[in-house]
Amino acid sequence: MTAKIIDGRAVADLIRTECANRARRLEEKAGIRPGLAVILVGGDPASAVYVRNKIRACEAVGIHSFTYRLPETVENEELLSLITRLNVDSSVHGILVQLPLPAHIDMARVLETIAPSKDVDGFHLYNVGALVTGSTVFSPCTPYGVVKLLEHEGITVEGQNVVVIGASNIVGKPIALMLMARDATVTICHAKTRDLAQFTIGADILVVAAGVPGLITAAMVKKGAVVIDIGINRLKNGKIVGDVDFAGVVLRASHITPVPGGVGPMTVTMLLVNTIESAERILM
Ligand code: GUN
Repeated sequence: MTAKIIDGRAVADLIRTECANRARRLEEKAGIRPGLAVILVGGDPASAVYVRNKIRACEAVGIHSFTYRLPETVENEELLSLITRLNVDSSVHGILVQLPLPAHIDMARVLETIAPSKDVDGFHLYNVGALVTGSTVFSPCTPYGVVKLLEHEGITVEGQNVVVIGASNIVGKPIALMLMARDATVTICHAKTRDLAQFTIGADILVVAAGVPGLITAAMVKKGAVVIDIGINRLKNGKIVGDVDFAGVVLRASHITPVPGGVGPMTVTMLLVNTIESAERILM
């Protein structure tokens, strides 16, 4: 068996075209241009690249982006007061603070200061709680992207055994909750899990977000499983790989996401979706 390789770029392109149409309709019907405020603190090069990609993606679909670049030494109060101003700015429908933040910044306070109705990253405690009860305002972008990929491929989630590897607040835990809400039977494994293979081998859908290249080998995968690789690891030779041994697992799975070109393109795309949705809610 050779798995179907899920083309995340193609699915992301379809959704981005739909975003551009929705943004145009909002402007024509109600004179509303969706707006996203992006706050970058300090000079972390990886964060700068992510932020640039987000801004470019916004412009390409007709979302106005407002970028705030603050120095590494910015005080907590200054950052909080910027967020408070953006919360009441009617041209801003989404607010994103790029993580990680410098150590002296109180990240929890920053995230709690963003109005839940503009929290397009879905990181505010209110939105995390809403995810638990199944009444989300905004779903976090990477997990939301995974759910959309599964939907697009017509993969049934209900009743399936899902194993999620990785229990982070922004990927592992929310994806487990979102798939539970879709009636999957979910097991979460993490760095302290003993004998990972005993869990992975039973998975109909295996979702891997561990940040460990080559963690999942073919022998750990059930024949015909759907394998979603969220890992993004840069090897010493510069190559970007996921957490799954692609060459081996592609011969055993029914579907697999490549790295790059699988889940990655979906993350920014779902940020665009959340921002447009936030702007559309003004008319509801
Ligand atoms: N840093 C790494 N991933 C993310 C993300 O999804 N959102 C934000 N704001 N920062 C991140």
